[in-house]
Amino acid sequence: MKFRALTAVAALLLAPAAFAGGADDDTLTINGDLDMVTKAAAPDHLSDVLDEVISGWHFRSDETQQLQTDDFENQGMIFVDQAIDQWNTAEGTEGKSCADCHSDPADSMVGVTTTYPKWNEDAGEMRTVQMQVNDCRTNRMGAEAWKYDAGAAVSMEALIASVSRGMPVDVAIDGPAAEYWEAGKDIYYTRYGQLELSCANCHEQNYGNYIRADHLSQGQINGFPTYRLKNAQLNGAHSRFKGCIRDTRAETFSAGSDEFIALELYVKSRGNGLSVEGPSVRN
Ligand code: HEC
Ligand code: HEC
Repeated sequence: MKFRALTAVAALLLAPAAFAGGADDDTLTINGDLDMVTKAAAPDHLSDVLDEVISGWHFRSDETQQLQTDDFENQGMIFVDQAIDQWNTAEGTEGKSCADCHSDPADSMVGVTTTYPKWNEDAGEMRTVQMQVNDCRTNRMGAEAWKYDAGAAVSMEALIASVSRGMPVDVAIDGPAAEYWEAGKDIYYTRYGQLELSCANCHEQNYGNYIRADHLSQGQINGFPTYRLKNAQLNGAHSRFKGCIRDTRAETFSAGSDEFIALELYVKSRGNGLSVEGPSVRN
């Protein structure tokens, strides 16, 4: 098994990037009326390496793709419903709920996901959506922080993403974000583990090819959080990064680490122009 996996990776890396992309030509419309941009011109910072950025949706089977076209079939939406209950529940020493300050997420949270991770001037830090929610929980509600990528945290992140579906990802990479972006880019091109593979080796140079039974995508995160059929739960981007690094047989960073916050910013910026899809469905 180990041997087979290794030869598969070797074969993958020997395979010439013979055909561009291997992405299908399907189009994604949700609930019959929300058209998603799943292919877009690559942002300027990628112009040396890619012409087009492509959502991971294009690399999945028709059956998996179908699940994302209807909120009644998208099991990620079950977790969004749970987060709506959470949103309306008072917690912590202040006895407040998210709703007390932010009313309806369908009004107050529109567009938020398009710009995160985002520099927070007052705190002097790069903030992911989960960090921002924890800041509200601890500093404004007097409630406990959620563990990074824990169920409640990812479900809330999915609720917040869901009201931005169809809007283009547009994270800032200049100003105070620049140093985080550079750090994330370094990680993206670093070869990890016994297999000595970087994110780019798989997701930039070999998307469209198969690795074992998996059709490699560009590893975009416009669809996060993602409901995976494999583990039947919502998955945060950091957990996905962890899994990918572990597959190279390397030690990995933890969810919520500075490294993964920087990597999230960088990977998200590679999808600037694609629609927010969270919660998406993948295998
Ligand atoms: C006591 C009022 C209060 C409560 C309760 C509260 N927040 Fe906030 N929240 C704020 C304020 C004020 C800001 C703006 C803070 C800033 O810009 O630094 C904010 C900002 C945010 C943002 C960022 C919005 C943006 O445009 O960048 C998110 C996301 C958010 N809150 C989510 C939540 C969630 C989820 C909960 C419940 C778990 C919650 N908040 C509870 C007051 C609150
Ligand atoms: C050995 C090859 C390999 C390496 C190296 C690798 N990945 Fe992946 N990755 C995969 C495979 C296979 C999948 C599942 C199929 C797909 O969506 O590409 C995947 C999926 C993903 C997804 C989910 C995409 C979606 O649409 O849901 C993201 C995000 C991702 N990878 C990011 C990364 C990042 C960031 C790195 C570097 C830290 C990395 N990967 C390294 C093979 C790899």
